[in-house]
Amino acid sequence: MTKIFIFFLFLLTLLASSAQKQKQVYIVHFGGSDNGEKALHEIQETHHSYLLSVKDNEEEARASHLYSYKHSINGFSAVLTPDEAARLSELEEVVSVYPSHPEKYSLQTTRSWEFVGLDEVAKQNRNHFNMGQDLLSKARYGQDVIVGLVDSGVWPESKSFSDEGMGPVPKSWKGICQTGVAFNSSLCNKKIIGARYYLKGLEQVYGPLNATEDDRSPRDMDGHGTHTASTVAGRRVPNASAFGGFAEGTASGGAPLARLAIYKACWATPKASKAAGNTCFEADMLAAIDDAIRDGVHVLSISIGTNQPFAFNRDGIAIGALNAVKHNILVACSAGNSGPAPSSLSNPAPWLITVGAGSLDRDFVGPVVLGNGMEIIGKTVTPYNLKKMHPLVYAADVVVPGVHQNETNQCLPGSLTPEKVKGKIVLCMRGSGFKLSKGMEVKRAGGVGLILGNSPANGNEYSYDAHYLPATAVLYDDAIKIHEYIKSTNNPTAIIKQARTVLHTQPAPFMANFTSRGPNALDPYILKPDITAPGLNILAAWSEASSPSKLAFDKRIVKYTIFSGTSMSCPHVAAAAALLKAIHPDWSSAAIRSALMTTAWMKNNKGLPITNADGSIATPFSFGSGHFRPTKAADPGLVYDASYEDYLLYLCSHGFSFTNPVFRCPNKPPSALNLNYPSIAIPNLNGTVIVKRTVTNVGGSKSVYFFSAKPPMGVSVKANPSILFFDHIGQKKSFTITVRLGSETTRQGLTKQYVFGWYRWTDGLHLVRSPMAVSFA
Ligand SMILES: *[C@@H]1O[C@H](CO)[C@@H](O)[C@H](O)[C@H]1NC(C)=O
Ligand SMILES: *[C@@H]1O[C@H](CO)[C@@H](O)[C@H](O)[C@H]1NC(C)=O
Ligand SMILES: *[C@@H]1O[C@H](CO)[C@@H](O)[C@H](O)[C@H]1NC(C)=O
Ligand SMILES: *[C@@H]1O[C@H](CO)[C@@H](O)[C@H](O)[C@H]1NC(C)=O
Ligand SMILES: *[C@@H]1O[C@H](CO)[C@@H](O)[C@H](O)[C@H]1NC(C)=O
Ligand SMILES: *[C@@H]1O[C@H](CO)[C@@H](O)[C@H](O)[C@H]1NC(C)=O
Repeated sequence: MTKIFIFFLFLLTLLASSAQKQKQVYIVHFGGSDNGEKALHEIQETHHSYLLSVKDNEEEARASHLYSYKHSINGFSAVLTPDEAARLSELEEVVSVYPSHPEKYSLQTTRSWEFVGLDEVAKQNRNHFNMGQDLLSKARYGQDVIVGLVDSGVWPESKSFSDEGMGPVPKSWKGICQTGVAFNSSLCNKKIIGARYYLKGLEQVYGPLNATEDDRSPRDMDGHGTHTASTVAGRRVPNASAFGGFAEGTASGGAPLARLAIYKACWATPKASKAAGNTCFEADMLAAIDDAIRDGVHVLSISIGTNQPFAFNRDGIAIGALNAVKHNILVACSAGNSGPAPSSLSNPAPWLITVGAGSLDRDFVGPVVLGNGMEIIGKTVTPYNLKKMHPLVYAADVVVPGVHQNETNQCLPGSLTPEKVKGKIVLCMRGSGFKLSKGMEVKRAGGVGLILGNSPANGNEYSYDAHYLPATAVLYDDAIKIHEYIKSTNNPTAIIKQARTVLHTQPAPFMANFTSRGPNALDPYILKPDITAPGLNILAAWSEASSPSKLAFDKRIVKYTIFSGTSMSCPHVAAAAALLKAIHPDWSSAAIRSALMTTAWMKNNKGLPITNADGSIATPFSFGSGHFRPTKAADPGLVYDASYEDYLLYLCSHGFSFTNPVFRCPNKPPSALNLNYPSIAIPNLNGTVIVKRTVTNVGGSKSVYFFSAKPPMGVSVKANPSILFFDHIGQKKSFTITVRLGSETTRQGLTKQYVFGWYRWTDGLHLVRSPMAVSFA
């Protein structure tokens, strides 16, 4: 009897585990959103009855349920087998059932977390927002605006989140401060007015949270969420001493009095997985967006993306954001860090503002001076002070025997001979191994400094690192020059000069190499990204639970650090949107986006076209409408508005009807080309295309706008009418833009390639510009 019983148990376990293998988190989508006045528990009951219809019993149905959504989508997430999912999808009221994409969403910092800084360097930071005092005071520094961040949580003790002197929490706020491990409700204040966390999806895939790697609470154990939150709304601290060594007015967020609502849906665990510190599950993000909508945020900043865009009906960020937009929440998303390859862009939905990354006009230099007097450009964020020239060696000349011949110059751990390195500066090359560990190896062997040379594969991009000893980074060609010098003399020497911040560098901005590029792989009729903002070497607050490099061997703790990525540029635009929202509370999210886009600037601080990192001319496929100018955006003159219904019609043109049965697509949906977007993209032009647009007057009550254009090469661009007369604010005027293919000679054989231009309206005071991208059939 006992034996049989045990065997039976064993069999059950076996069966359970084989079924387990196939189980997955699915999103069940009914279409529409906002289940009217229904309370969440009623909705949950309904969802439960759906689960009961495919599960064996009550208990199983309960256990499989993850989240019920009310605002972000009308639907729920649950653990299902493919068979159960198929059965649910056959129900008439179900729009779609799809497996939640595991591990495919990630935080959008640079590929290698290369940009690392220390407290000392931060002294030299300054306001990089380009937000005039006038704009800030008009917007009351954003104090009535609530910005939600879906990210890795927050380090609430950071001075950036002090609520000193802030007014009461806006009355409209309905959120909560969810307590958890190392996070009690006293950590929320008048700055961080809400905090929540979501991990049912994560635990479904990875099992119970590993408590040594992350806290079951809104606390940020990664750093990313703290960085983005302080970039949006970090406090400006008037006194250096108050900031533990920071200079006045530094590391300030763009909307310093805006309120923060923290939604932790990305986790620093499991570190053993490739997705370490980068794991955001769709089911969790949807729950976060759901709560953010209900809590009453005004702006959502989501620095999360995918390497490849998913179809709109299968992309949790896109669907959730669409319903946020329905509630007039502006959603800013990062374009991604998969550039410079074409069509590498994520978050392409036209109801988002998709943000690319460019440089600041600031640089960190630490040049090398050789014994022969030659000065070589070096870049570093390592604080140090070498007082004199030191002997200089090339790593390959001082390596221990047995190192593989292709790795003698790499300064890999244990590869250097201490007797030959002691007291010297070592030239090491990139290629294999961590950059920081190369510095540690030089230090271990008794060296006094590191010159880190790029490999040819690194191109012209400098790596900015905070090493453990005096160190600077040089380009490949310069590393070769240094090596030549070492070979040319018996007593090579060098000094790495003290690192300093250089302001007003030119040209700036240039586009980061990593920023993801258009054309829009999902819909070539929508030009993406929309805009660009600073995303290279951005200083902001950091989690004290995570080292600045996030490498296991790096034990340093910093309060502020420098990071790069479209993750860093997205919160800049979210901050600008928060200020605009404060000034124009009645504007739609489309109007705010339009204002930011049509006032953006396509030139750098030398008055020349914005370039890529390699100096080539950048295009709207990397910067969208250009570099953001929040001060101009407060008074754009005209806006291209669009409503939630316009986006539903747009989705109809893609064959999706999310809102079944509330909203029915017309038999002949309008072309995506005619969505009232502040930019124009026309793929495969052959003959003539007529584009319709409508502008709303938000400038002077009586005004006259004139049309002009810089047509893309090989096409002509005309507007009808070409003059717009307005006699009151809020008045709308429609016009058409006729884009006509020129002769073969004017096209100069440019087949399939994209060419770029712009058109604009101006009344003499305002410039309302829209970029254009056209490719030929
Ligand atoms: C909350 O946590 C903080 C810091 O960990 C602690 O100082 C404080 O006493 C706690 N407050 C309550 C009400 O538990
Ligand atoms: C939890 O994380 C720690 C630290 O990364 C690791 O050593 C340990 O193996 C993990 N535990 C489990 C059960 O994965
Ligand atoms: C700033 O610090 C100085 C001295 O360190 C002090 O005299 C001054 O009152 C402080 N200002 C503020 C606004 O705290
Ligand atoms: C050097 O060769 C080893 C073994 O063939 C290989 O694993 C490694 O990636 C190479 N390193 C470089 C820098 O080419
Ligand atoms: C840009 O990145 C690509 C791919 O990582 C690399 O091949 C190229 O050299 C880089 N370009 C510059 C200018 O750094
Ligand atoms: C362009 O249009 C012309 C006339 O309608 C047609 O003959 C030609 O095949 C089209 N070319 C392409 C590449 O579609």
